[in-house]
Amino acid sequence: MTEDAFRLTGPDGKVTTLPVRKGSVGPDVIDISALYQEQGVFTYDPGYRATGSCESDITYIDGELGILMYRGYPVEQLAAKSNFIEVSYLLLHGELPTASELEKFDNTIRTHTMLNEGMLAFFKGFRYDAHPMAMLSAVVGSMSAYYHNEMDAKNPEHRDIFAHRILAKLPTIAAAAYKLNIGQPFMYPRNNLNYCENLLHMLFAVPAEPYQIGPIAAEALDLLFILHADHEQNCSTSTVRMAGSSGANPYSAIAAGVAALWGPAHGGANEAVLKMLTQIGDASQIPKFVAKAKDKNDPFRLMGFGHRVYKNFDPRATIIRDMCYKVLKHLGRSDNPMFDLALELEQVALKDEYFIEKNLYPNVDFYSGIIYRALGIPTSMFTVMFAIGRSVGWTAHWREMIADPAARISRPRQLYTGPKERSYVGIDQR
Ligand code: CMC
Repeated sequence: MTEDAFRLTGPDGKVTTLPVRKGSVGPDVIDISALYQEQGVFTYDPGYRATGSCESDITYIDGELGILMYRGYPVEQLAAKSNFIEVSYLLLHGELPTASELEKFDNTIRTHTMLNEGMLAFFKGFRYDAHPMAMLSAVVGSMSAYYHNEMDAKNPEHRDIFAHRILAKLPTIAAAAYKLNIGQPFMYPRNNLNYCENLLHMLFAVPAEPYQIGPIAAEALDLLFILHADHEQNCSTSTVRMAGSSGANPYSAIAAGVAALWGPAHGGANEAVLKMLTQIGDASQIPKFVAKAKDKNDPFRLMGFGHRVYKNFDPRATIIRDMCYKVLKHLGRSDNPMFDLALELEQVALKDEYFIEKNLYPNVDFYSGIIYRALGIPTSMFTVMFAIGRSVGWTAHWREMIADPAARISRPRQLYTGPKERSYVGIDQR
């Protein structure tokens, strides 16, 4: 990594030389860590539009060109040729596994799928209609209680075990939350099944009869998990890093990531898209809703449109749209009204001046919900599915952060606009 310099002149003429750091690809980064000491000012960047929070070699995004790469491999190639378990290994370890490394990793994940029975008992405490994201966050957080003594963040072996447990147990927790919602008995994992087949089994099998796993369903889920696996310093990943930066138990940090993902501006958008499509109801209503989305005085937004980083197209949306066709065709529902409505809405928005000018394109969440729904997964579980895929990204980032000798506790500063110093006034004088 070569270093360049950026010269900044303060109001009093004092010149500060700030190093410019170059990544392997992508824009340069000005290292401002000495700025306050040198010039007595902070930078101000709400929402971190122009701020790099860390150095990372996991995932690269070029928002203008619509490029997404995990460890240098374009997501299109991974989606076409790899599978979620192999991609997980790649994200966690930095390289594609050899055949024996993959077999060992796959076996490790398959054999860590069960939950401690005490953890399962938590579900009895939730109301029958608790949102599965709330349950997921709570039960993942409870893993910090189960594995506290075995979690020394400085120990690489412990970090590996943590990664395996997160990846292996999240589907089991997710399925338990779903079974609670529908009042069915919890189905234990079956380790002879692959990752997505096992998830489908735990979601849809019942003890009373055999369950046939649809091959297209497992394939579609695997693809969605690959596409969701990581996305550099997004809101939930930054949350995991921030919570973990204090040295907090990493299971708690992942629980914080689940909570951040739930918001409708982030992973909650896939649930919001389906609700929006249901609300629109019919193609004749599209102009009305597009007008609402454009109205500054109306809080309504077209869910599944726009992205902080992608300003041209979201490569994941393109891949998911193709899978959407495939799933619906396979299920004999290629004339799915929800999908037709989504396609129509996409076309209207893509031709609209407002959306063109603001670079608003369909994002990953626009089509994923249609696939989930076609597979029989209820709307409230959509973001949970996203969380399962993203859990490996969170884990990879936590591992990278904790192993980085330059890592510090995340502690931003602020622009204070509150009252200046004033004296306390006794209650009788207010
Ligand atoms: N519908 C209508 N207008 C929009 C939309 C939308 N979906 N998204 C952005 N805008 C407008 C926004 O009103 C603003 O206009 P102006 O400059 O006149 O004030 C401009 O576009 C920029 O929006 P922003 O909110 O400042 O942009 P951001 O980068 O902070 O937000 C976003 C990005 C994804 C939160 C936002 O586009 C959004 O709310 N989209 C809908 C929710 C969604 O689909 N989220 C999923 C994101 S992808 C998966 C994930 O991250 O988990």
